Amino acid sequence: MNKKISFAGPSITAKEVSYVMDAVNHGWYENYDQYIKRLEKACADYVGVKYAVATHCCTLALHLAAQALGLKPGDEVIVTDFSWVATAYAIAYTGATCVFVDIDPDTWTIDPHCIRQAITTKTKAIMLVHTFGHPAEMDEILKIAAEYGLFVIEDAAPAIGATYKGKPVGSFGDVACFSFQGAKMTVSGEGGMLLTNNEEIYQKASLLASMGRTDRKAVFWSDLLGYQYTINNVTAALALAQLERVDELLAKKRQLFTYYDQRLKDVAGIKIIKEKPGCQSNYCYPSLLLDSRITANRDDILAGLKQLNIHARPGFPRMSCFPVFEQRFENPVAKNVEQRGISLPSAANLDEADIEFVCQSLLSLIHKNTGG
Ligand SMILES: Cc1ncc(COP(=O)(O)O)c(C=O)c1O
Repeated sequence: MNKKISFAGPSITAKEVSYVMDAVNHGWYENYDQYIKRLEKACADYVGVKYAVATHCCTLALHLAAQALGLKPGDEVIVTDFSWVATAYAIAYTGATCVFVDIDPDTWTIDPHCIRQAITTKTKAIMLVHTFGHPAEMDEILKIAAEYGLFVIEDAAPAIGATYKGKPVGSFGDVACFSFQGAKMTVSGEGGMLLTNNEEIYQKASLLASMGRTDRKAVFWSDLLGYQYTINNVTAALALAQLERVDELLAKKRQLFTYYDQRLKDVAGIKIIKEKPGCQSNYCYPSLLLDSRITANRDDILAGLKQLNIHARPGFPRMSCFPVFEQRFENPVAKNVEQRGISLPSAANLDEADIEFVCQSLLSLIHKNTGG
C-alpha cells in the first residue's frame, strides 16, 4: 500500500516538543497556568481582540458563547445549514431553537439573503461559520445584525489566519471561537478559544468555564451553574507553539491549495471553492463541487480514493435533517454540496507529488465512474 494521504494532520517540530516538555517539566506550582495565559494573549493579539478564554475544545467555547449571550428556550438563532454539528449543538444546549438557512454556492458560507428571510420576532442571534477557512460575508451579516438588533457569533473553528477585507476573522462578531482539534490549521489534539471585545461576555464566559466559582462567600463558593470547560497547561503549550508558527502553516496550506487549483481549475464539471476578492481564505480544507456535467456518483469516487489510501471527505449532511432539529427551509445549495461536494486531503505532511497523485486518481475515478 502506498503512503497514507491523510485528509488533515499537523506539522510538529522541535518547537512544539520543547514547549510541551517545558510544560510537563515545569508547568506546575506557580507556573501551572503559564502556557494557558500565553496562549490566550497570543490568540487575542493575533486576531486583534481584547479578551480570550481558552477551553477544552471549540464546541465548548461555542456553548460558552451562546450561554454568555443569554440565549434561552424560545429564542431563535439563525444558523448555517452546512457545518459540523458542533455549530448547532452549541446553540441547542441552551434550549434556543436553530433556524437553519442556506449557503452561498461560491464559498459555502451562510447566505445573507437567506438570513433576512428567516428573521422572526424571536430571532436573537446569527451563528455563522467561516466554512473550511473561507470568510463569511461579514459586511452584509453585520448590517443585518445592526438592523434587527441581533448578536453575531462567529464559528471560526477552522479559520485561524483568514481575513475579510484585511481584518482577521474572529474579530467581527460579538464573540468568536476557534478550534485546535487535530484536523485544524493549528493543532493541539483538542483545544478551543473564545474571543471577544466585550468585557461582560468575557467575564461571563470565564466564570461559566470554571464552574461559576467566585469564592465570594467562602473558598469554593460558586455563584452560577457553571461547567468545567478549561484547557490544560500542557495542551496550551502545544497550541501556543503551533500559533507561533501560524504564518508558516498558512503558507503550506496555500501552497497545497495552489497545486490543486493548477491541476483542476480547467477540468469541465469541477468547481473549486476559492477565496472571493478582498478575502483571504486559510484554505484549511481545499474543496470542490462536481456539477451536472459529471455524472459519476460522488460516493463511488470517495470510495475509489479510499482504496488508494487517499482520504477525502464528502460535504456535510444538512444539520436541519438531523432528528434533534426541525427543518424550516430545504436549503437547496447546501443539499447540493451535501451530495456533490468533496474536500480534498491537505495534511501538513503532503507535498506536490502527493497532490498530483490525488488529482490523477480523482480524474481517473471520475472518468471511470462516468462510464466514458
Ligand atoms: C465549524 C466547526 N465548528 C466547531 C467545531 C468543533 O471544534 P472542536 O472539535 O474543537 O470542539 C468544528 C470541528 O471540527 C468545526 O469544524
